[in-house]
Amino acid sequence: MSRLAMVTGGAQGIGAEICRRLVADGMRVVVTDIQGDAAQVVAGQLPGAGHDSAQMDVSSETSVESAFARVEDKHGPVSVLVCNAGILILHDGQRLPIAQTSLDEWERTHAINTRGTFLCARAFLRSRTITPVPHGRIITFSSCAAQLGGYRSSAAYISSKSAILGFTKALARESAGFGITVNGIAPGLIDTAMLRMSMPPGQEAAATVAIPLGRLGETSDIAAVVSFLVSEQAAYVTGTMNDVNGGYRMQ
Ligand SMILES: NC(=O)c1ccc[n+]([C@@H]2O[C@H](COP(=O)([O-])OP(=O)(O)OC[C@H]3O[C@@H](n4cnc5c(N)ncnc54)[C@H](O)[C@@H]3O)[C@@H](O)[C@H]2O)c1
Repeated sequence: MSRLAMVTGGAQGIGAEICRRLVADGMRVVVTDIQGDAAQVVAGQLPGAGHDSAQMDVSSETSVESAFARVEDKHGPVSVLVCNAGILILHDGQRLPIAQTSLDEWERTHAINTRGTFLCARAFLRSRTITPVPHGRIITFSSCAAQLGGYRSSAAYISSKSAILGFTKALARESAGFGITVNGIAPGLIDTAMLRMSMPPGQEAAATVAIPLGRLGETSDIAAVVSFLVSEQAAYVTGTMNDVNGGYRMQ
């Protein structure tokens, strides 16, 4: 039986492309998203058998616990968890200054981007301690906005994604004993709905001036790196944060 991958935020953008890539790599994929219907559409278009979808709100403990239990009851243990779901709240395409940021916006952003990653990783680890799997993998999502302080993103988003930089390392240390590797992705400017929300048509050329490779990233650029990190070949890579940004930020 092929390995089972669960992708959060898989209904569109980077998450949907990761689902397609992992299927091409030979995995069975469960597409999860708060948009259950859209996740079902993505899952229905995946080639081959054994794929599924689940409505799951990563910010809700109940939703994460019950979706995990339903998926594993039906399909067996998840081997690969991709914590891709995330939000960036903007107002007419603009970030609010910190002085104008509401507590609700701050909390909601952290609930999805940070708490969501914790809840999904915890459900995965609890389950894997009962039912271990070979080549267990977790992928987390930070952002180059967290590394740079961000130009288009809100302070709440930057803060929520900065937490992922540290959490990925803590998770990697704790997961290692179970044979599970944990690695993060820090995307640069990737051409999805999230980016387009903050970049009106016509601003692309100005944005790419600062990218040495001279273009926005494609969702496939991220999926290719995830594909390697969750593969059996990446067995000795853990606790890393992988810049996929066209050289936008070099360290
Ligand atoms: N696009 C970029 O330039 C960029 C840059 C840096 C980091 N990222 C990160 O990459 C990841 C994917 O981003 P994207 O550009 O594909 O965004 P997107 O907005 O296109 O897709 C995000 C997906 O997450 C889902 N989602 C939102 N809230 C959810 C919740 N509570 N529970 C479950 N699913 C939920 C949405 O329904 C959507 O399908 C995010 O974590 C994002 O922060 C993106």
